[in-house]
Amino acid sequence: MNTIGLLTSGGDAPGMNAAIRAVVRTALGRGARVLGFRHGYDGILEDDHSEMRSVDVGGIISRGGTILRSGRCKAFFEPAVRAQAGQKLQSLGVSGLIVIGGDGSLAGAKKLSEECGISVYGVPATIDNDIFGTNPSIGFDTAINTALGAIDRVRDTAYSHDRVFVVEVMGRKHGFIALEAGLAGGAEAILIPEIPFSLNQVCEKLAAGTSRGKKSSIIVVAEGAGSAHQISQDIRERSGFECRELVLGHMQRGGNPTAFDRVLATRIGSFAATQLMNGRSGEMAGFMNGAIVGTPLETVLSTDQPIDSERLLLADVMAQ
Ligand code: ADP
Ligand code: F6P
Repeated sequence: MNTIGLLTSGGDAPGMNAAIRAVVRTALGRGARVLGFRHGYDGILEDDHSEMRSVDVGGIISRGGTILRSGRCKAFFEPAVRAQAGQKLQSLGVSGLIVIGGDGSLAGAKKLSEECGISVYGVPATIDNDIFGTNPSIGFDTAINTALGAIDRVRDTAYSHDRVFVVEVMGRKHGFIALEAGLAGGAEAILIPEIPFSLNQVCEKLAAGTSRGKKSSIIVVAEGAGSAHQISQDIRERSGFECRELVLGHMQRGGNPTAFDRVLATRIGSFAATQLMNGRSGEMAGFMNGAIVGTPLETVLSTDQPIDSERLLLADVMAQ
């Protein structure tokens, strides 16, 4: 394989740059050429690409975001557009494509491979940690530490003013960020979409805390489980607690990746490039049980990442 294509797609995640660097340097080290496409699948369709040299990925391991930029290419949902993309890649001599992104981006890669005969290899990068075949995904560790920093800060104010704070974190339809940041931040309640909850029970918990002498509390809610604004209002009306909300939003996607994410991205990116060049395709590289392994995209995309409900129970015990 002489020319490898590379792109980042979907929501950006800290560590994408480290993965880009790993793919480029591994591929160059094995004698391949790397073409980087900008803004996700749009870069293929719009001929927005350039050759990536080793020097082009220098100094990026510490940077958040993605030097290739990202994108959400709506047109890529159309088979005819994917066929066009396949032709473009073939005319550029790209025989294999590495896609760094979330499950949507990986779904696009799988279709491109099946429909156009392009070899593909996936690199899971999303703050949501919702991709089966890797635990965690690239970016998750940085995001939970960013959320945790905010929770720690807001706890100071909650304590000083005897308030309840509802902190909303990202995660799309999943509660992985909420669960991890909430457990690490000692949250009094963690609300996630995977496990049903009742706000009456949350209010009862807060009241029980008050009777034990607890004067402030933090509730972490995953965006997929409800809005901090609404929950805060409901708690205020039901219980009379002085309640404030904080929506962390996109700050969770930015910032310098943690050491963990840099190493994870380097190992996964390098593994993906090596596997692709060894003739593997239709797989995703991931961190499973302490090792980097390849999992068929078919399995990745048809299996749910399980949530660890034991952690939620543990958080409950810790909040008593
Ligand atoms: P993420 O990769 O972070 O999950 P999205 O779900 O927004 O983000 O997907 C990113 C991009 O991947 C989409 O804008 C589109 O270009 C492509 N994509 C996502 N799902 C599909 C699909 N089912 N078929 C083809 N392309 C897809
Ligand atoms: O998938 C990453 C993520 O940040 C989700 O947590 C969130 O729901 C979504 O992307 C936000 O997307 P956008 O950047 O389009 O607002």
